[in-house]
Amino acid sequence: MKNTIKNIAALFLIFIFSGSLANAQGWSVPSSAKKKQNPYEATAKNISSGKKIYNLNCKSCHGDPTMANMLPLAPVAPTDLGSQNFLVQSSDGEIYYKVNKGQGAMPTFEKTLSDEDKWMVITFLRSFDKNKKERQQVAEIKNPEVTDVKLELKVNEAEKNMSAKLSGVTKTGKRVGLQGIEMSFLVKRSFGFLDVSGEDPYTNEKGDVQIQFPKDLPGDREGQVNMLVKVTDDAFYGKLEEARVVTLGVPTDPVNPLDERAMWGTRANAPIWIIVTFVGGVVGIWSVIFLVLFQMIKLPKLASKQD
Ligand code: HEC
Repeated sequence: MKNTIKNIAALFLIFIFSGSLANAQGWSVPSSAKKKQNPYEATAKNISSGKKIYNLNCKSCHGDPTMANMLPLAPVAPTDLGSQNFLVQSSDGEIYYKVNKGQGAMPTFEKTLSDEDKWMVITFLRSFDKNKKERQQVAEIKNPEVTDVKLELKVNEAEKNMSAKLSGVTKTGKRVGLQGIEMSFLVKRSFGFLDVSGEDPYTNEKGDVQIQFPKDLPGDREGQVNMLVKVTDDAFYGKLEEARVVTLGVPTDPVNPLDERAMWGTRANAPIWIIVTFVGGVVGIWSVIFLVLFQMIKLPKLASKQD
């Protein structure tokens, strides 16, 4: 009995980890994501709130930074996030991307942690980096200080793609594109939003970013879907978003589930077997009742015959 339980447990573990085995080939982080900057400063307060968030969400697997006491998960064990090896190789943007996406046994924190919380954790981890000052200069993209930031959308329905342009006005009055900003392209579905941003939704040096719309996403009868495009992280330029109805989906005639023959259908659409059983039952019962009645009517006649 004990062995059976052990075997089942082993099978279960193999089952869980075979999923992560399939994509244990390492991470692919888009180069523009690597350049993303931590908008928060490494103040003592930020580091300590990062430590709290780390202890709650990450420590169970990654252990204490620099202590190399990680949980020995298979096939890929969690990294010691305080080790120089890791910190030297990873930019803040890269860590941010990995924390958002997750991989294998590493969960995604895209929805479970706020952007601020994620950057606080990164600020905390970076506090273990001995040569952080040198590295930060290499990765930086500098956008000039701008006002009147605008988001413009362009839709190409034939090619099924969509682009967004992010621009702002500099102090000299020139409108310039803003580079390296992550955008989210979301399609409204019945429950919440579907993210169709793809792998690399960061604006280029002109402030443009283009996404390819999925070919098989169902729209309404005319193929229309509701899109919401926004700057993912509003720590940079505040809340910037635009909603738009676009004809990029596949036209779909929604079938009303009430129109087919089913248990939940209206009377005319009841399944044949229910109609047959019901009618059969009714006819059967009434026949028995009439049979009995006829026999009873015969009774007095039979009685008079006897006399
Ligand atoms: C359930 C366990 C678990 C939790 C909780 C967890 N991680 Fe991970 N993490 C992993 C594993 C396993 C890997 C290795 C995944 C791989 O490389 O396939 C990993 C990898 C990473 C990497 C990439 C490391 C590298 O070498 O490139 C980063 C960064 C990271 N985790 C950050 C975090 C942060 C920050 C948190 C908390 C907000 C966190 N993780 C919470 C298990 C976890």
